[in-house]
Amino acid sequence: MIPEGSLLIAEDLHKTYAHTPALAGACFSIHPGEVVAVLGPSGSGKSTLLHCLAGIVQPDAGRVRYAGRDLTALSDAERSALRRTDFGFVFQFGQLVPELSCTENVALPLRLAGIRRKAAEQVAMEWLERLEVADSGSKRPGEISGGQGQRVAVARALVTSPRVVFADEPTGALDSYSGERVMELLTEAARSSNAAVVLVTHETRVAAYSDREIVVRDGRTRDPDHSL
Ligand SMILES: Nc1ncnc2c1ncn2[C@@H]1O[C@H](COP(=O)(O)OP(=O)(O)O)[C@@H](O)[C@H]1O
Ligand SMILES: [Mg+2]
Repeated sequence: MIPEGSLLIAEDLHKTYAHTPALAGACFSIHPGEVVAVLGPSGSGKSTLLHCLAGIVQPDAGRVRYAGRDLTALSDAERSALRRTDFGFVFQFGQLVPELSCTENVALPLRLAGIRRKAAEQVAMEWLERLEVADSGSKRPGEISGGQGQRVAVARALVTSPRVVFADEPTGALDSYSGERVMELLTEAARSSNAAVVLVTHETRVAAYSDREIVVRDGRTRDPDHSL
């Protein structure tokens, strides 16, 4: 059963690394603007599912469809182009470029899209303000806290107005207070931009920020709401 109006759909995904099965029949769907948490114990296949949904990893079997297109049938170049324009990413450790200032980090996706430096940095500074880290703009990632770094990473993920934000344990390296603030700001910003969020986490506290939860176990998904 495919839920109507879905933006991103995965059907029966399988992926094996060497002899390790990472996905063994995973299904997923998300609507525009929806925040879906992917829960499950460590090693259950959450990150592999996220990577398949985002077109970073090709599944061995199964299909991923995004906005009516078969993502698994695109060439590598087409998939990376799509990732740049339509998707944003936040990982456990911000993965900011250490040599660049935080403003330059957030401006980077816009620069890669061909926007001139001054205009890109202007938009980047507005996003840093929304994420309450305007003061970090001129600093480098090494000079700010983990929580501030994740807010900068969220700003960078949203700066191109993506339709889907993929977040893999975005608060996994933070204390609970800064983690909750990052989640509040991430979901608020995503909702106001109508971006869908695929939120991978093993913390139920973090999943509380989602509209819906799905659980992954041994590479299989359970979706209590959709019986996928
Ligand atoms: N690049 C990889 N090479 C080999 N094995 C991998 C790779 N990525 C994941 N795995 C294995 O696949 C399984 C699922 O991993 P993963 O998707 O990272 O789970 P989770 O994110 O839920 O912790 C684990 O057994 C893991 O060791
Ligand atoms: Mg993981």
